[in-house]
Amino acid sequence: MEQMKQRVGQKFEALYGAGATFYASPGRINLIGEHTDYNAGFVFPGAVDKGVVVAIRPSEGDVCRLFALDLDEECTFALKEEEKPAPSWAHYVFGVAREMQKRGATIGAFDAVFSGNVPLGAGMSSSAALESAFAFALNELNACGFDRFELARIGQSTEHNYCGVKCGIMDQFASVFGKKGCLMRLDCRSMEFAYYPFDPQEYKLVLLDTRVKHQLTGSPYNDRRLSCERVAKVLGRDFLRGATMEELEALRPSISEEDFKRARYVIGEEQRVMAVCEALERGDYERVGRTMYETHWGLSRDYEVSCEELDFLAGVAAECGVAGSRMMGGGFGGCTINLVKESLYADFVATAKRRFAERYGHEPQVYEVAISDGSRRL
Ligand code: GLA
Repeated sequence: MEQMKQRVGQKFEALYGAGATFYASPGRINLIGEHTDYNAGFVFPGAVDKGVVVAIRPSEGDVCRLFALDLDEECTFALKEEEKPAPSWAHYVFGVAREMQKRGATIGAFDAVFSGNVPLGAGMSSSAALESAFAFALNELNACGFDRFELARIGQSTEHNYCGVKCGIMDQFASVFGKKGCLMRLDCRSMEFAYYPFDPQEYKLVLLDTRVKHQLTGSPYNDRRLSCERVAKVLGRDFLRGATMEELEALRPSISEEDFKRARYVIGEEQRVMAVCEALERGDYERVGRTMYETHWGLSRDYEVSCEELDFLAGVAAECGVAGSRMMGGGFGGCTINLVKESLYADFVATAKRRFAERYGHEPQVYEVAISDGSRRL
C-alpha cells in the first residue's frame, strides 16, 4: 500500500497539484459461506493486504476529475448528472457519489487519482475495494456522518444500480470492516458480526488464481439469486436462510430441478458455516478444511458456478493432502482458497503450478494471504 500511495501521490501532484488526502480499502477472502449473503445467511470473510489507494482533494465547481492510474485514463463527470460517465471503471465511483446523494448527503466535486493491486477477476472483490475507498473518502471529506454499515450498503447499491450486479453485502462489508489478523463472521440477516482472530499456527492460507475469467452470456450471478428467491417464495419465506432440507425435499415435485439444486447448495452451506465455526473453536483445522471441499463440490455440482480449471485445482489440492480447498467468490473463474499445513505448503504449490501449466498452458498465480485492516485514511 505504501508504494501505491507514493505513485498515486506523485500522479496527483503532477495532474492536480498539492493538498491530497489518502485513503485505502482492501479486497477480501472468504473462508466459508459462499453465495449465502443474499440469502440472509452467514459469511466468513477477512480483508487482505491488497486494495485500492485513492488520493483525493475537494475542488471548486461541479465537475469531478478522476484518474485511473493503472489504465492511464482520465474521466470527468458532474455529480448532478443522472447519466453515467462512459468508462465502466468510473461507474463504481460515480455510483458511490450518487448513492450518497440519494441518502441525503451533499457531496462536493473532487479531483482524485487511484490505483489498485487486487487482481481483477480473481474473486477477491477489486470492485468492492474501489467502492469502499471512495465511500470512506467522500464520507470524511464531506462530513456526511454515514456509519461503516451504511458505507458498505452504499457500495452494494452502487453494484445494483450502476454496475448491474445484484450482489449481497459481503464484499463491501469485509472491505470496510476488515481487521488485521481477524476473520469476521457476519449474519447477513441481523447484520451482527464478530471478529475471529485467525492464526492457525501450523497452517497457511494461500490463493491459487486460475487467471481465467469465463465470459458467460447473460448474468449468471443474478440468475442464481433469482433461483433462490423463487424457492424461498414457494417456501413462504423471505429468504432461504433457516429453511431445512426436509422442507426443500417436500417441495421437490413443485419446483424445477435446477432451482432445487441451487437451494440444496444454499441450505447445506448454512450448515457448513456453523460446522466451521465450531471446528475453529476447537482448533480443528482438518475439519475446517474438509468442509471447504464440501463447499467446493456443492458450488460446482449444485450451484454450478465453478469451472473446469477451479475443479482441477481443488482436485490437485486433495491429491496433495491439502486440508481444504475451494473456489472463492462469485465463481466462473478466479481463485481457489487453500488451507494447507505448513509442512505440505512448498510441495503443494510447486505441484499445483506444474500440473496446472501442463494442462492449461499457464501457471496459476499464487497469493499468500495476510489478513489486514479495512477502509482507512492513510
Ligand atoms: C460476489 C458478491 C458477493 C457474494 C459472493 C459469493 O463476490 O459480490 O456479494 O455473493 O459473490 O459469495
